[in-house]
Amino acid sequence: MNGNGPQVRTDIPGPKSRELLRADQRHLSHGSAYGDMFGSGLHAPVFVASEGCYLIDADGNRFMDTSGAYSIGVQGYSPGPLIDAVCAQMRQLMHLPNMPNIPMLQLAESLLGICPGELKEGLVQFEVGGGPTMDLAFKLAYHHAVYGKGVSHPVTLAFMGAYHGRSIGANTLTGYAYYRDGMPRTPDVVHLPFAYCYRCPYEKEYPSCDILCARLVGKLLESSNYTFRDPNTGHNSVATLVIEPIQAHSGMIVPPDEFMPTLAEVCRQYGITTVVDEICMGIGHTGKWFACDHWGFVPDIMAVAKALTGGTWPLGAVVAKRPIYEVWGALPDRHMGTYHGSPVGCAAGLATLDLIKRENLLENASRMGAYFLAGLHELADRHSLIGEVCGKGLALGVEFVRDRTTKAPAAREAGLIVLEAAKKGVLILRNGYFNNRITFMPPLNVTKDEVDIILKVLDHAIRRVAL
Ligand SMILES: Cc1ncc(COP(=O)(O)O)c(C=O)c1O
Repeated sequence: MNGNGPQVRTDIPGPKSRELLRADQRHLSHGSAYGDMFGSGLHAPVFVASEGCYLIDADGNRFMDTSGAYSIGVQGYSPGPLIDAVCAQMRQLMHLPNMPNIPMLQLAESLLGICPGELKEGLVQFEVGGGPTMDLAFKLAYHHAVYGKGVSHPVTLAFMGAYHGRSIGANTLTGYAYYRDGMPRTPDVVHLPFAYCYRCPYEKEYPSCDILCARLVGKLLESSNYTFRDPNTGHNSVATLVIEPIQAHSGMIVPPDEFMPTLAEVCRQYGITTVVDEICMGIGHTGKWFACDHWGFVPDIMAVAKALTGGTWPLGAVVAKRPIYEVWGALPDRHMGTYHGSPVGCAAGLATLDLIKRENLLENASRMGAYFLAGLHELADRHSLIGEVCGKGLALGVEFVRDRTTKAPAAREAGLIVLEAAKKGVLILRNGYFNNRITFMPPLNVTKDEVDIILKVLDHAIRRVAL
């Protein structure tokens, strides 16, 4: 990130933004341009430019975006080398409808090279943006269940609190009533509680819980009377488990270290295909290429998007173990599309992976993440409104509570804190199971000075609200 610091000189939105918004609001559905700025309760101004991690509005106000533009940020909003790669590829070969091209071939090799374990020997298919990429991962797993494993009516396990995207398949996998209610759904997705230890849904304590939430998957398969598996015949309708290993949109919920390995063991035991959604955390935000790398978890299928192109192009990729794609490839072209594997998107992806390696951005994410986390813990020592601080690398979350003993969610206070920070020009995402958490996912090249600005403004905002 770079720039001259946050600066707010007018009301938000300012007069020029308000003027522009009056015209916009006659034509735009709120589904396409939601007015609320990052959950602050303020109507978003009209942004007209960007610089590093800053968004500049029509009135010249400069806002620091601490979400890395919803986790696409590698070099913030001005990734020079990536923009150059996009422009060069645009001039060379702008488009090919779903056909092999040189950047596509090169990116597939480069992406496989950073994948964990057996996925390195896997295959890749490209998609467009996060939601459709999760749809492809879901289709691939389902197809494998039917044609590869011979399960006639496969059940998919997913997790409450996970967000997977807005397209129908991804929306079905998403564990939020808010996004699912009134929407069409694909059949047979069952949601289980996630390892949200601060508010354990089973009211257990870690570590004495012995990771019941992960072990439960296996328990549900022990008896025919638990719906899914008949131990007498061995027929198991649970074919797939889909997981967002760190729940970003639910407030950066990081599971305890035993959770993912326990799930891996249960899935191995019962032949369940694992699908990991790395769309938000993948490509460096946790300080490793993928969140699942923190636990040595090697999924069967992995979905990547967002930071894969540093925000320059809505490219996604589904990497899967070779046998899974071999079953898929036996019936080719059933998932064709116009923009799949766009040469421009793939050139941007290639440039992004090169940039991260060349500039040691994973190392920066780990180092700055540790510094940021320590700063948040220091704030928690001084502010009793903070109930929990957690994170991995630059993916960080803070939960606000009215009382540390009862853990009563401080949703109103969280909103006011985000509002106070926005008034100082620092945009912080508000989310969480009870709308009482804030999250940070700054770009991978964030500097110490920029983290200090965020911590200082957050401290100020909490002090104002706690008064
Ligand atoms: C974990 C996860 N999966 C999928 C998506 C969907 O990505 P997109 O918004 O690019 O469709 C998101 C978006 O926030 C996400 O955080």
